Amino acid sequence: MNQAVLDAIYQRRSIREFTESSVGQDLLREIIRAGTWAPSGLNNQPWRFVSVTGPAIISDLANQTRYAHIVKGAPALIALFLDRREMYNEVKDQQAAGACLQNMLLAAEALDLGAVWLGEILNRKEEVNRILGLDMNYDLMAVVALGYPTHRRQKSQRKKINEVIINEL
Ligand SMILES: Cc1cc2nc3c(=O)[nH]c(=O)nc-3n(C[C@H](O)[C@H](O)[C@H](O)COP(=O)(O)O)c2cc1C
Repeated sequence: MNQAVLDAIYQRRSIREFTESSVGQDLLREIIRAGTWAPSGLNNQPWRFVSVTGPAIISDLANQTRYAHIVKGAPALIALFLDRREMYNEVKDQQAAGACLQNMLLAAEALDLGAVWLGEILNRKEEVNRILGLDMNYDLMAVVALGYPTHRRQKSQRKKINEVIINEL
């Protein structure tokens, strides 16, 4: 049994407050690499990434979401896209993007970073692509805000296991 994997799954929390310490390119690449080791249908790997550490672009992106305070306070962002030209099935490719994102969150945790998956910004997909200089072949799936956590006291809750298991036949 690999307890470390279970520990990471259970201990990961969304981190929304970051210190001012920057996040090195090597760490951002490691997180992206972990994302790419997620499963994808037919192993088509439709994900594409843009990492951002420049304060001006972070600020422009922050203005596209009601979670501006989180984005503005993050020293790094990774935007995840699906490349429409590489997709073969809308649902399955989006599922792969979800798996990729969870890998990235767990990798951030393993690297002592904190991260939060930001979805609300999808309401402004066109603006995000314009800011990042991308055409709409790149379909925004999420922006992950990253940095060193100011603390790790975040709490979260889950429904009881009996509430989510429909049946055990
Ligand atoms: C699809 C998706 C979209 C999300 N969008 C946002 C968001 O826009 N802003 C935010 O603060 N958190 C966002 N989250 C994080 C969730 O709020 C968080 O995962 C949930 O409350 C459970 O907390 P935990 O991750 O600490 O366990 C999103 C998570 C997912 C999976």
